[in-house]
Amino acid sequence: MEIEEMKRIAAKEALKFVEDDMVIGLGTGSTTAYFIKFLGDMVKRGEITDIIGVPTSYQAKLLAIEHGIPIASLDQVDAIDVAIDGADEVDPQLNLIKGRGAALTMEKIIEYRAGMFIVLVDERKLVDYLCQKMPVPIEVIPQAWKAVAEELAIFNAKAELRMGVNKDGPVVTENGNFIIDAKFPRIDDPLDMEIELNTIPGVVENGIFADIADMVIVGTREGVKKLER
Ligand code: A5P
Repeated sequence: MEIEEMKRIAAKEALKFVEDDMVIGLGTGSTTAYFIKFLGDMVKRGEITDIIGVPTSYQAKLLAIEHGIPIASLDQVDAIDVAIDGADEVDPQLNLIKGRGAALTMEKIIEYRAGMFIVLVDERKLVDYLCQKMPVPIEVIPQAWKAVAEELAIFNAKAELRMGVNKDGPVVTENGNFIIDAKFPRIDDPLDMEIELNTIPGVVENGIFADIADMVIVGTREGVKKLER
């Protein structure tokens, strides 16, 4: 089975967790893009009614509009029933690394607020420990990037300022900040590391999502697997 098909079957499975009248956090990335499309198809067919999507990024917002999902911003809703999003790595305890798409701060705010947070990945994302393959994206105040990168040396991290593609200079997030990608040797205590990184002055938020996912839906060659905490 192709990777894209693994993403699609995970996204289809997530549709079982949405109901009429729900406020749904809409994640960012290629896997969640399938979910947003399928959800929009349900809306068009009248299979689900009165839902509101709360996008975690412009990408999610544009997709929701394209697929006919009514949207609201976080400050326009009282609660979020369920949030659906992708991830870059998932460890055996369902701790995550997120932020390849540079939307990690809004993703974390919305997913922290959600009554249930469901993660959609293909099997390549499952790792034995965080930072096995991917760096941790860290959103930083632009002027602080060098200072933060130097502080990360304490953790033996290899830190790089993320540069734009088809844009000269650094990636600028939707909040007007920069992203540092920090490759740590390995992360044994994700919650501790998540908290510690956020204490460095200049850090806005980091891409470790410890103890927050309620369920991970994995698209595999053999079909869909659900992992729960
Ligand atoms: C966006 O900032 C990220 O957190 C994505 O959710 C994550 O990178 C997963 O993206 P894919 O589904 O495209 O792999």
